[in-house]
This record gives sequence, C-alpha cells and structure tokens, in this order.
Amino acid sequence: MKNGAVYYSNANTNVRMTTVRDVTAKAGDEPITMLTAYDAPTADIVDDAGVDIILVGDSLGNTSLGHDTTLPVTVDDMARHVGAVTRATDDALVVADMPFLSFGVDEATSIENAGRMLKEEGADAVKLECGPHTVDLTEKLVQLGIPVMAHLGLTPQHVNQYGGYPRQGTDQAAAAQILDLAREHEAAGAFALVLEHIPSNLAAEVTAALETPTIGIGAGPECDGQVLVVDDAVGLSGWSPSFAKQFGSVREEMESAVGDYVEAVESGSFPADEHSHESADLDEIY
Ligand code: KIV
Repeated sequence: MKNGAVYYSNANTNVRMTTVRDVTAKAGDEPITMLTAYDAPTADIVDDAGVDIILVGDSLGNTSLGHDTTLPVTVDDMARHVGAVTRATDDALVVADMPFLSFGVDEATSIENAGRMLKEEGADAVKLECGPHTVDLTEKLVQLGIPVMAHLGLTPQHVNQYGGYPRQGTDQAAAAQILDLAREHEAAGAFALVLEHIPSNLAAEVTAALETPTIGIGAGPECDGQVLVVDDAVGLSGWSPSFAKQFGSVREEMESAVGDYVEAVESGSFPADEHSHESADLDEIY
C-alpha cells in the first residue's frame, strides 16, 4: 500500500454508500426509511427502492425459519443471512440484529458475536434489544468501532417475560424507564434507536428529547424514521401486527403463480415446445 489515498479508498471493498453519519444527518430533515430483508433477492429489491437502512432482523426466526418466536435464532443463522444481504446491497446501511443470548451474557462473547457480523459478514452496524444491561456494552462496542442501533419498547426477545407481545410504556413508570434508557443509550453512543409498539405520544417525547434518531414500528408518526418487517409490508406474511400496513399482495401473487404452475404440469401444457430442446446427436441412441 503506497499512500493514504489507496488505504482510504472504497474501491474493491464492500463499503456501501450510506453510512451511520448519513443516517444521523438525515434525522429531522427527511424521514429515515428502514425495512428488514433476510436474503439476497429481497435485499436487492429493497436497496434499489432507495431504503436508507436494511435490517437483517432476528424476525428471520418467524418470517423465514418457521419458529414461533425469535428465541431459537442462532448467531450462525444470523451470520448466514447477514452475508446474503450484504452481498446484494450496494447503497443501504446494513444492520445485523444480535439474536437472543448472543450478547449481554458476558462482554467478550458479545463483542466476538457482534464483531463477526462486521468482520466476516460485511454488516455496517449491529442492533441490540436493550435494557439496563446493554448500556455499558453499547459504549464498549462503539469504542471498538462497532456502531450500535439500540431497540427499546417492545423487545420480542422478552416474550416469555411479557407473556406475549403487549404494547409497552403505557403507564408513567414504564414510560419514564423507556425515556431514561433512551437517554442512557444515546450517552453510550448508539447511532439510532428503534422504538417498538409504544404510545405515539411517548415516542414523540423520546424523539424530542434525543439528538439520536428514533425509528418507530408501531410507535406513531413523530419518530425520525419508520421500519417494518418486509414480509408484512409487501403482503407475504400469513399474519401481521395491527400497526403494520400491507403495501402489496405478494402472497396472493405467489399463490396464484404456484397454482397456475401445478395446473399447467397436471394438464400437460408445461413444458411446451419453447421450454424443451432436442439434440440431433442423440438420434443414434434412440
Ligand atoms: O427483528 C426485527 O425485524 C426487528 C424489527 C421489527 C425492528 O427487530
């Protein structure tokens, strides 16, 4: 390496156009857009649509791996899907969700697991479902060069504590705790904060109290940005939460295409001549 220009060049690296600084700079000016993706073709579509951030969410467990909750999702599951998404993404910032118990148990393992998403799979940042136990960890990861997106409100990895997926922050004490934790994660260096399934007036208050951009899901219109699970947004999920909006009907489209395929094979109309080929070299064999 001859000079700094080569060292700092983005050429021949997987560095994408959008950085965490672009995301923080956008806050307050224009809404930040974020969607999940779990595979290369979906990431390609989401990226081409101009989404700012692609989250490889541990919602992967529900959307793609057939689990009832996100709890069984492993670091290996996440790594495989984060790699697929980063390879297909040119522009958007790619954030890797850290799965249940992969962080917050002990610091060294948390750093190793989060570091793997950047070092081996090309993610730009990680997301942690947060609580009092993630403040110091956020600070440590940021010091090491791993940008952290914090996630407060409904954190689905606590499903067993909640007994389901109820709205959070609905009384004064719970709302104050969310606001305090948001401030603590901002002070620890989180570059963005997901607020899930909390009252919109609480989300507005947190957004006003922080410099750090907030990205809401079921948290009303006053956040700096919005995120949805892509399967819900495009209409692929069999079920989606009340706060999600379906912007397409991919499930119906797939059901219709698959039904047509079955019918075509059964009726003998597929494959037709244009889908088949003969080889003259085989004439002697038959
Ligand atoms: O796992 C996920 O997809 C998420 C989003 C819903 C924020 O955490």
